[in-house]
Amino acid sequence: MQSNDFNTGDRSIPRHVAIIMDGNGRWAQKRGMPRVMGHRRGAQAVRRTVEAAVALGIKVITLFAFSSENWKRPALEVSALMQLFARALDKEVPLLKDNGVKLRVIGNLNAFPLKLQERIQRAQELTSGGERLILNVAANYGGRWDIVQAAKKLSKMVLEGSLTPDLIDEKLFASVLAEPLDVDLLIRTGGEKRISNFLMWQSSYSELYFSDTLWPDFDRQDLEEALNFFSGRERRFGMISSQLKDNDKC
Ligand code: IPE
Ligand code: IPE
Ligand code: MG
Repeated sequence: MQSNDFNTGDRSIPRHVAIIMDGNGRWAQKRGMPRVMGHRRGAQAVRRTVEAAVALGIKVITLFAFSSENWKRPALEVSALMQLFARALDKEVPLLKDNGVKLRVIGNLNAFPLKLQERIQRAQELTSGGERLILNVAANYGGRWDIVQAAKKLSKMVLEGSLTPDLIDEKLFASVLAEPLDVDLLIRTGGEKRISNFLMWQSSYSELYFSDTLWPDFDRQDLEEALNFFSGRERRFGMISSQLKDNDKC
């Protein structure tokens, strides 16, 4: 077993689960509803998933809510998504706090209206004491943006004289990413099999789980199925099977 996972009896629980929450639009269109209804129902699935993650002992969950490419959608859909996000922040924060969930919003937040940035800040402060689960909401997030912003941070340190280029290694680089922890299990709902510029660096060695379930239908059982898939994987990280078995004996 890799040190990154928690072994809870017969099942190892991934420490960091990341989810590309896809399929809201199709969920609505299948029902003859406007796409925004799918996003609304998607918000309910977020709540269910966070509750399940706490109950199942996951330590970090990162949810892809809005990508750096999603600005290209029709203006009406983008503004509906922003409204939904702002409302969810206000509504969910007390619940998150009561459940020991620490909220972090990761992404290029400068692009958001100042008022929304303040709401995000407030929500993060109010939940900062949460110790059961870290909930990262990726908003205006792109994996390439993350790598570029990390490179900028390190370049500034070099310019200021607090770092020399020789000291830059993978560990230091990861530490300045929006989320430093590697993803153990990456889930994508909605049937597509692509990464869509999510956590590019952090998912280098993730187990990948693709589900046809549309995001608004995702529930605890779906999450448990993904965890079962995960616990059946042998994570070799470049080694061979017998080496892992030797490690287990130590
Ligand atoms: C994911 O669902 C939510 C966001 C990207 C904000 P979609 O809106 O992409 O749903 P589909 O893929 O069109 O069904
Ligand atoms: C990825 O979904 C982004 C989020 C889930 C927030 P998209 O639906 O935007 O992905 P593509 O563009 O189809 O790859
Ligand atoms: Mg989509």
